[in-house]
Amino acid sequence: MSPKIGIIGAGKLGTALARMFAGSYENVAIINSRAPDSLKLQLQILLPGVQAMEVHELIKWADIIILATPLRQYQTLPLSEMAGKIVVDAMNYWSPVDGKIAEFEKYADSSSELIAQSIPGARIVKTLNTVAYSELEEHALPKGDEKRRAIALAGDDTDANALVAQLIDAIGFDAVTIGMLKNGTLLQPDTELFNVRVTADEMYAVLDRLQKV
Ligand SMILES: NC(=O)c1ccc[n+]([C@@H]2O[C@H](COP(=O)([O-])OP(=O)(O)OC[C@H]3O[C@@H](n4cnc5c(N)ncnc54)[C@H](OP(=O)(O)O)[C@@H]3O)[C@@H](O)[C@H]2O)c1
Repeated sequence: MSPKIGIIGAGKLGTALARMFAGSYENVAIINSRAPDSLKLQLQILLPGVQAMEVHELIKWADIIILATPLRQYQTLPLSEMAGKIVVDAMNYWSPVDGKIAEFEKYADSSSELIAQSIPGARIVKTLNTVAYSELEEHALPKGDEKRRAIALAGDDTDANALVAQLIDAIGFDAVTIGMLKNGTLLQPDTELFNVRVTADEMYAVLDRLQKV
């Protein structure tokens, strides 16, 4: 059965993802920080087939929740309600954009690991944070195309990784699983795999080289 995908954040990234997922999946919902009604025009014009919901409803309804808010905002969400869900962390901590956030400044590991600590019981997958929203539709290609761009993902739960990999494939990219959530450090801003247009083979070559360093 088609998974229910709930996107939290209806800005540049959330809207682009909702459009793309709606092309392959029946059940896609999105929210912003306001009432569902505030998305009426956006749904009509940009996101036909996508539903707007209230945050508690969306968390309960979704099988896969995608966090696409500015990172500073995630702690305002009802995180404890996400226990048991697959949660895709598509956010970045990037101080030039977010401003300095003390706990992320002093945390040396993957920002997604810090976020995972705030959502006990959820299966966190870090991905979709490395591609500019404007490139999602532009760079999507059918499976098997030799130029198909790769998107990396990292997570501790094998089943969650596999399901999220299917989502990435469905929207036109090759999913490359790079292992545990701690490997998400390889996908953060200012790293070699951030915001680069590479195929899966090229990505594996980069990973191979990085592991030898
Ligand atoms: N832009 C990109 O190309 C891109 C690519 C990869 C990753 N990312 C990451 O994706 C995240 C979002 O970036 P963006 O560029 O899409 O930001 P954006 O255009 O500023 O949109 C942010 C969205 O988050 C919503 N939001 C804020 N607080 C919320 C809350 N408590 N509950 C529900 N929704 C809330 C906002 O709602 P309101 O409209 O009601 O304020 C808005 O719809 C960032 O962490 C960024 O690093 C962005």
